Amino acid sequence: MIRKIVISALLVTAPVMVHAAGGGHLEKADIDISNEAQLQRGAKYFVNYCLGCHSAQYVRYNRLALDLGLTEDQLVENIMFTGERPHDTMENAIPAVDSANWFGRTPPDLSLTARARGGDWVYSFLKSFYLDPSKPTGTNNLVLPGASMPHVLWDLQGLQKAVFRTETGPDGVPHEVFDHFELVEPGQLSPEQFDTVAADLATFLTYISEPVKMQRQSLGIKVILFLVVLFLFSYLYKKELWKDVH
Ligand code: HEC
Repeated sequence: MIRKIVISALLVTAPVMVHAAGGGHLEKADIDISNEAQLQRGAKYFVNYCLGCHSAQYVRYNRLALDLGLTEDQLVENIMFTGERPHDTMENAIPAVDSANWFGRTPPDLSLTARARGGDWVYSFLKSFYLDPSKPTGTNNLVLPGASMPHVLWDLQGLQKAVFRTETGPDGVPHEVFDHFELVEPGQLSPEQFDTVAADLATFLTYISEPVKMQRQSLGIKVILFLVVLFLFSYLYKKELWKDVH
């Protein structure tokens, strides 16, 4: 019995613990997976900026076209690389062995990342690269300290540095706490426009991490409505049957 309780408690708290392990400073992202325009933009950024290193091995292009409201021509023109077929999955361009040598870590497959980390985590991660000359990539990341991923969106966001302040904790030991980012070299986009790009990508990754979510939710609502109606009729029927007995 106790074992059962412990296991259930672990199952309930596991997602919370995974999220907490992602580090502090998470920002809330504007994620709406029913927004087709946002998903289409996210898919395009993903293909142009991320698929070079990361794969999304559970996603098929033709399924993507269906869910994102794209015609086959739009799919081929905007999303797919030449030589790929609509029923292929989203594979990356670099063999795993090479990328492990280049970055010290193989860029993980991103099919399920948003499910494990949360959309807000992905959004904050993409916004939190800051200059750090001590790192081989020249940048570090506030949400994933020591990340071996380079700041691939720097031409859009620009380059920022992180400003820390010293705070003394309850233990009396002073330590550095993140205060704010300071843009040192502007990119092509304003900070607000870049937030939209990061949210588009987070939305796309959230969608691919559970492509049936939309259907699941609408089916769930229909099932509940059906049960409510069924309950009503069963109740009336029961009253009818028992009315002579009472
Ligand atoms: C030049 C190669 C490269 C490109 C391009 C790239 N990444 Fe990465 N990415 C990496 C590497 C390497 C890691 C592993 C970082 C680590 O754990 O230190 C990573 C890690 C991540 C993670 C964290 C996964 C996890 O759960 O730890 C996310 C999320 C991510 N990348 C998203 C993106 C997105 C979105 C893009 C496109 C905008 C992108 N990456 C483009 C190399 C790349």
